[in-house]
Amino acid sequence: MSDHAGARLTSRLRLDPVTKSHADDLWLVHSDDEVWPWYSAHKPTRGQIERRAALMDESWRLHGVHKWIAYQRDDGQVVGRGGLSRTAADADWGQIYEFLPDEPWTREAHDAPFPFTAHANWLEIGWAVRHEFRGLGYASEIGRAGLAFAFTVLGANAVVSCTLRHNAPSRAVMERIGMRYAGEIKSRGLINGATREQDDAPYVVHVLLRDEWQGVPATGASRGQPRATEAAQGRRSGPGRRGITPIPTLTTRVRFPSSPA
Ligand SMILES: CC(C)(COP(=O)(O)OP(=O)(O)OC[C@H]1O[C@@H](n2cnc3c(N)ncnc32)[C@H](O)[C@@H]1OP(=O)(O)O)[C@@H](O)C(=O)NCCC(=O)NCCS
Repeated sequence: MSDHAGARLTSRLRLDPVTKSHADDLWLVHSDDEVWPWYSAHKPTRGQIERRAALMDESWRLHGVHKWIAYQRDDGQVVGRGGLSRTAADADWGQIYEFLPDEPWTREAHDAPFPFTAHANWLEIGWAVRHEFRGLGYASEIGRAGLAFAFTVLGANAVVSCTLRHNAPSRAVMERIGMRYAGEIKSRGLINGATREQDDAPYVVHVLLRDEWQGVPATGASRGQPRATEAAQGRRSGPGRRGITPIPTLTTRVRFPSSPA
């Protein structure tokens, strides 16, 4: 398996941080005809996926996290991709503030301004599974590993998840892993049945605060057990961390569903 510090093992999956070298496997996931329509009105090009893999690679290096690519442990087949990413400090993600505690940490920026200015203390979680691997609980397994990584390794205060209102399978994953429905926001996406994206598509938002997490241990952390010490050592986002800067009023709009996910 990858010797990347962000790699994880769950009971059935090997979760490797996406780097440039995973473009082929990421393509397998995002070119799946039952995956890409949830992200865009058009199938992504191979070049777009290479750029996405490069962004994820850079985010792992500079932000300490981004998505994993998931492989079956027993035969190495590509199952999907998922996990965490930091959220951009833009107007779309700023809509989430109303669902988070009205405390300074909610609007604090991560100290690495590249590859994008991101919130320091809360992250987004998501999943996409190739169609032949659906209905097996893999997305939930990725989701639980992501929550454990957020709270025990990154020291996050909250994790949020957003999906188009009509994406019942993704909403079911959010519920299954213990996230609670918080409300809705509007962002660019495909309204159910439409063929063109709109700026005001409804997205449901689920939230899990650190205190609400049931603390299911990081299933099969790649090296040893859940890393209590790592939570302290590797904490990039806790109170008192130097370099935190408050995020100014948000005006820029970065395409919400696809920029971080
Ligand atoms: C969203 C998505 C990842 C959900 O995949 P999924 O396979 O339905 O979700 P899970 O992997 O958690 O599997 C849950 C199902 O497996 C079943 N299951 C079987 N074995 C299981 C196990 N060991 N553990 C948990 N569930 C198991 C569950 O009962 C459930 O079945 P149900 O749907 O009939 O209720 C998938 O639909 C997808 O990739 N969609 C396209 C991309 C997308 O929309 N992503 C989200 C964008 S925000």
